Amino acid sequence: ARPWRVGLIGFGCVGQGLYELLDQQPDAGFYIARIVVKTPDKVRPLPAERFEFDAEALLNDETLDVLVEVIDDADAAFRLVAEALRRGRRVVTANKAMLARHLPELVQLQREGQGTLLYEAAVCGSIPIIRTLDAYFSAEPLSRLTGILNGSSNYVLTRMGEEGSEYSSALAEAQERGFAETDPSLDMGAFDPRSKAVLLAAHAYGAFLQPEQVLNLGIEGISAVDIAFAASQGQKIKVVAGLQRLPDGRVTVLVTPQLVGPESPLYAVDHEFNGVVLEADFAGEQFLRGRGAGGHPTGSAVLADLAALRQGFTYQYSKAANPPTYASDLEVEIYL
Ligand code: HSE
Repeated sequence: ARPWRVGLIGFGCVGQGLYELLDQQPDAGFYIARIVVKTPDKVRPLPAERFEFDAEALLNDETLDVLVEVIDDADAAFRLVAEALRRGRRVVTANKAMLARHLPELVQLQREGQGTLLYEAAVCGSIPIIRTLDAYFSAEPLSRLTGILNGSSNYVLTRMGEEGSEYSSALAEAQERGFAETDPSLDMGAFDPRSKAVLLAAHAYGAFLQPEQVLNLGIEGISAVDIAFAASQGQKIKVVAGLQRLPDGRVTVLVTPQLVGPESPLYAVDHEFNGVVLEADFAGEQFLRGRGAGGHPTGSAVLADLAALRQGFTYQYSKAANPPTYASDLEVEIYL
């Protein structure tokens, strides 16, 4: 089969990760035909002729088989992705903040037959969690999901515990290694894993939450002394997302620092790794662990989506109402 022509919008950490992966895998079946970036005069690892500056031109290019949106700006990303879907295009995005804000509208566009959208790269890097929830757990109810969904804060907590290194130097390392968001307070304040938890709730429970309906507490107030105290009790401090369907039907979602002991599979999830524990009555417990941040793992997830699109895979959102509607405050257990 002929290689698919990919239109890449954004050439940051994830865009470059995908580029390098395809460069090393010329037979993967995908070719980056056009690349759009925002800033003309930035130093980039490719010749300047490879770059253009008008994303609209890619939306209009019918020779592109798929568009990959990996820009930082959530509002601009939403406009692009929604418009691409309205034009019936195939789209892959990694933009968790954008998705967490606009998912019902994007689901509706797809249900109306307008385009296809995949976003495995938006949650937990290379861990295939969205696909696991959407496809494997499309029918069986999930009783609980607990996960470490942010690589940067997990990296900082791990480093602060390991070497007695300071918060600020550990954060600088996470930034240098390409794990952190452009605004690292999104990682440290647990806003980034909150977006991811919103996406998981949609696929796990068919519950569409506004990000503000999810309590998120970050790690800014945690010191090396706290981590050492936890260690003296045989525990680690981790930022854990917990999602649960309560017996009365309401959904509870929160992302907070918690003490995690060795009985939990999350105890061994250190540095930039992410991990997710799934619990269901018949499946029992499943544990997925992998690299949750960085250009290469996230680029790998984008490539996995490209390959899935090529095989005709689409998300089913089988637990979501039609049309998808936001959960009211009464349907959500809110801890505020
Ligand atoms: N800043 C994010 C993290 C990147 O640290 O997990 C992956 O979404």
